[in-house]
Amino acid sequence: MSTTVDIDPTLLQELRTFRLKKSSSKTAAAVVKIDKKKLLMVMDEIYDSTTLDELVEELPEHSPRFIVLSYELHHEHGRISYVIDIRDGELSDTILRERLGSDEGPWNHTFRLEHKLGPRLKVTALIDPSKERAEKVLETKRNSFVLSAYKDTVVYPSAQAYIADLKPELHPHVIWVGSPPAYRGSMAPGHDLERVLTDILPGVPLFIEKPVATGPVEDAFEVADMLINSGNLVSVGYMLRYLKVVQKMKQILDENNLEVMSVNARYIMAYEQTAKLDWWDKSQNPGPIVEQATHFCDLCRYFAGEVDLDSVSAHALEYNEPAGKLSKIPFDESLIKPENRIPRITAATWKFETGAVGSLTHAVALQGHNYSTELDLYADGHMLRLVDPYNNPVLYFRRPGDDHEEIVRYPNDDPFFSEVSNLIDCIEHGPNAAPILSSYEDATKTYALTWAIRMASERSTKKVA
Ligand SMILES: NC(=O)c1ccc[n+]([C@@H]2O[C@H](COP(=O)([O-])OP(=O)(O)OC[C@H]3O[C@@H](n4cnc5c(N)ncnc54)[C@H](O)[C@@H]3O)[C@@H](O)[C@H]2O)c1
Repeated sequence: MSTTVDIDPTLLQELRTFRLKKSSSKTAAAVVKIDKKKLLMVMDEIYDSTTLDELVEELPEHSPRFIVLSYELHHEHGRISYVIDIRDGELSDTILRERLGSDEGPWNHTFRLEHKLGPRLKVTALIDPSKERAEKVLETKRNSFVLSAYKDTVVYPSAQAYIADLKPELHPHVIWVGSPPAYRGSMAPGHDLERVLTDILPGVPLFIEKPVATGPVEDAFEVADMLINSGNLVSVGYMLRYLKVVQKMKQILDENNLEVMSVNARYIMAYEQTAKLDWWDKSQNPGPIVEQATHFCDLCRYFAGEVDLDSVSAHALEYNEPAGKLSKIPFDESLIKPENRIPRITAATWKFETGAVGSLTHAVALQGHNYSTELDLYADGHMLRLVDPYNNPVLYFRRPGDDHEEIVRYPNDDPFFSEVSNLIDCIEHGPNAAPILSSYEDATKTYALTWAIRMASERSTKKVA
């Protein structure tokens, strides 16, 4: 689901002039931003003479900028952070998203790591079975101003190959896991990436993408136990928790001692641009609830606590029912076996352990680009509505004594940056330096909820059939 961003021709001219300028003893930087309305990359500002520190001060904290830097290359000082990025897709995403942008939000982490660590970032290894793709990505990185982070990166086809070649002086400070979930979240060989890594690198902090697995829920809990015992700090990629509006909702609930009575989540995706065949195929992907609506299931748990999984009930509108026909699937769906085609609508309800009621509607229904997403919660005298958390997060909020909704927005809030930044702060300054909002164990409970929904909907479909 991507939106093309063009480059303003004036920008190209400005960059050409910038490149040909005589270098000064300090650093010169051209800062480029995206004009979201025009979907155009434009020049934000040119700094003739600055330092990296001054530049970092000038940049907005939560709004992406693309920087062309001209500077003399010296050896880096101070502490060096060694980072392994486990997925080529992540790095590819960096380039792709910087070029294309995305309706769901630009989710590349390398860009945030580069921003957070600056010249201290060293990516020592990139693990991806597709060497060609990995090298291509690295080449692009090395041709940019982040060269110093990637100039010594070695590509390995597997975690095992990386470990076999690991030198003590390159012991990593963090491992970023963005590989497809089918290769992790279990203790079974071939799906046990966490075990492979922590056996050899006990205590090394991990970032792990959601969902934590694709296999049996019990297996993922086994991995959660293993990670607790190994003592590795783990942050899972439920980035919506880091949104400032989400934190504001938490604050309102806490300050008013409120117990959530009900959470209703609505996740309506735009399917027309989703051309990845695997996404539509339940034999290749655990399906839209486990893979996608998981973000909203996670928020439901974040606000209202644990779910009584036995209470989950769900219905699905399947592809072969009269109302399930979609006219703009961007490929021939008959390539997917009938039993593996994904549902168009999934509607679920459940009880939380507090007695509160939860509900989720996930729909593969809209065309165009933008998703329509909203999560409403009710508590005594209060209604909190989180609208469009991916693109333009807004909190509409009603409290006792006023029938009108207040509106809360935090412009340029980047939850991906906060997620990355908090983990790095914990690594550098101790485990309490910043909150890690999604632990592996907690993320596994979200995984369990999503499977409970999928299985309940499949059971009810069978009954109807
Ligand atoms: N938080 C978010 O908003 C967000 C957004 C996108 C993706 N994700 C998550 O990121 C993960 C990957 O998603 P994706 O869409 O980039 O997947 P993808 O299938 O596009 O990425 C696959 C990449 O991983 C590489 N790969 C395949 N097997 C591998 C292995 N065993 N070890 C290492 N690399 C391997 C492939 O060569 C490819 O480069 C998923 O868990 C997905 O849910 C999260």
